[in-house]
Amino acid sequence: MSRRDIDLGAGPPLVDAQAEEPERRSEASLRPTTLHGFVGQRDLIGHLEIVLGSARSRGQVVDHLLFAGPPGLGKTSLASIVANEMGAGLRITSGPVLTRPGDLAALLTDLHDGDVLFIDEIHRLSRSVEEVLYPAMEDRRLDVLIGRGPSARSIRLDLPNFTLIGATTRTGLVAAPLRDRFGFVGQLDLYDETELTSIVERSAGLLGIEIDHAAAGVIASRSRGTPRIANRLLRRVRDFAAVNDLDAVSSGVAVEALELFGVDVLGLDKLDRRILGLLCRQFSGQPVGLVTLSHACGEEAMTIEDAYEPYLLRAGLLIRTPRGRIATERAYAHLGLRPPQGGFV
Ligand SMILES: Nc1ncnc2c1ncn2[C@@H]1O[C@H](COP(=O)(O)OP(=O)(O)OP(=O)(O)O)[C@@H](O)[C@H]1O
Ligand SMILES: [Mg+2]
Repeated sequence: MSRRDIDLGAGPPLVDAQAEEPERRSEASLRPTTLHGFVGQRDLIGHLEIVLGSARSRGQVVDHLLFAGPPGLGKTSLASIVANEMGAGLRITSGPVLTRPGDLAALLTDLHDGDVLFIDEIHRLSRSVEEVLYPAMEDRRLDVLIGRGPSARSIRLDLPNFTLIGATTRTGLVAAPLRDRFGFVGQLDLYDETELTSIVERSAGLLGIEIDHAAAGVIASRSRGTPRIANRLLRRVRDFAAVNDLDAVSSGVAVEALELFGVDVLGLDKLDRRILGLLCRQFSGQPVGLVTLSHACGEEAMTIEDAYEPYLLRAGLLIRTPRGRIATERAYAHLGLRPPQGGFV
């Protein structure tokens, strides 16, 4: 039976790295390629070393892995590191791209023994596509329905040994049956300033930017615990240095550049400040539900929850209570406002 007998769709829907814009490409060039070169997340890296080491010594493929954590913390980087460390091929796709079961079937039948299939935003897979994934993950088989109506019949295809790596910004949104089929779930946390300083120095080295330790620290402290933001701020500081004819970046230059781009001492951007501003001013200290907050600041609730809140919580600027979100005293101080009378909940 050849693949042509089955309606597997137009071909594997992959994410095309070449088609990405230059800044995304530069991001890819900054990705660490080995577990050893990966800064931070020490516990997770330690666990992965064991999982990969054991698979290698048994001559088997790695168990399916799920990486979870806020955007920009290194989930995609880890997927390519796993493939690299195992000497395996890597195919990259994402949940929203796989709209029909045939899309996933086409991808799966196109894999080679040992390959790593990376599905980004795996929590956004549709139910029908997810159902193709279950037997593929568990028994490495694919059930395909050929034909329609009474003459339709199902055939079973054996798949090569492959490792599925899923990434999600939220484990809570991954359906339990899917989550249970992963042999290992790794949670990525926000990075501390020392780790981010090393990441900035490493990226500066790769980009040929001369920067001193203190300046790297300034960028790190305004990066909201996120390597992607650290790399982005580093590039803006480099732009500022270039147009001002400066060969090297000192901490003074870094501060000036970041102030110019509106990145404050805590690294808050416009939306962070809008969220805090709404909590402090418009809702004057009352607890605010996520949906109300999302309507008030014109941003999707999921974006607020996944991309903004983790850092605001960690920085002690916002707290979540059963009745809603509340800005903390530190948030009022940061915005230069007086806290509401009667104190905090
Ligand atoms: N531990 C790290 N050490 C060095 N650089 C890192 C590290 N983690 C992430 N980066 C850098 O941060 C950038 C973003 O990482 P990556 O794309 O892997 O994040 P992600 O978790 O997949 O984000 P998203 O959820 O948005 O897909 C990459 O360019 C990478 O160079
Ligand atoms: Mg990613």
